[in-house]
Amino acid sequence: MTGDATPINRANWDVWAAAHGQDSYYDGQGLVAGADSLTDVERAGLASAAGDVSGLDVLHVQCHLGFDSISLARRGARVTGVDFSPVALEKARDLAARCGADVRFLEADATGLPSALHGRFALAYATIGILCWIEDIDAWMASVAATLRPGGRLLLIDGHPLWQMTNGLDPLVLDFPYAFDGPHRFTASESYAASASPTTTVQFAHSLGEIVTAAIGAGLRVVRLDEHLESPMDVGRDHTPDADGRYRFRVSGQSLPMLYTLIAEREDHGSPPAT
Ligand SMILES: C[S@@+](CC[C@H](N)C(=O)[O-])C[C@H]1O[C@@H](n2cnc3c(N)ncnc32)[C@H](O)[C@@H]1O
Repeated sequence: MTGDATPINRANWDVWAAAHGQDSYYDGQGLVAGADSLTDVERAGLASAAGDVSGLDVLHVQCHLGFDSISLARRGARVTGVDFSPVALEKARDLAARCGADVRFLEADATGLPSALHGRFALAYATIGILCWIEDIDAWMASVAATLRPGGRLLLIDGHPLWQMTNGLDPLVLDFPYAFDGPHRFTASESYAASASPTTTVQFAHSLGEIVTAAIGAGLRVVRLDEHLESPMDVGRDHTPDADGRYRFRVSGQSLPMLYTLIAEREDHGSPPAT
């Protein structure tokens, strides 16, 4: 199915990337004026995974319009952004130029990142809207892990699989499985950020167990896994925030997870012992 899903999803992302960039989700003017695009969950994940990123080589995986690539470059990181949508990358390059940010953008499929990127990065940063587009998460983890130096870390923040199951919240409607069971096609007349022409996407469910197991299978050591019972954004559900501006997913008054943060490290096996 990878062969079928990839061109369908790339075409979808080209349409959505063309529509994004000056909306309440992607505020291009604000970014050019100096706004930081990282949410508090991303800032906390970054601090926990890498501390100060100044001077670090950072790979921004599935960078879309490069908002976070630019925000990471403003923190002093040497950033490479990768995405498979040429339309997104064209906008990302233009935005980086308008921001005066030095970011390299490269077109590549995240499940097969080029060998030129291997072993180079202290941090692979992939956040919010990542794995539902990926059929083979073992391939994704192996591809991203290969870009890390020994001791380098993956910071993956994404929609929690339980949250991904939901379509409506009131009443609660589940239209997506918890764990992988093959492709799911959706046709949407708008994106999560802006109105766009109707497009089809192919999405895949991955349970938290499948995600952590894929990271371990790629030779990564899991440093931490946090499940977030609140979110700074509604992550595409037209959801009303609480009075503190945070979004929560409550069923029978109990909060369920909306996002998770996974930090995993490429182990440094050091030099082979002298014989
Ligand atoms: C929700 S966006 C990225 C999230 C980012 N936090 C943002 O909001 O800017 C998802 C991105 O993943 C990219 N993408 C999806 N599947 C991909 C793949 N197999 N390889 C590379 N990029 C992919 C899309 O082109 C899109 O730009």
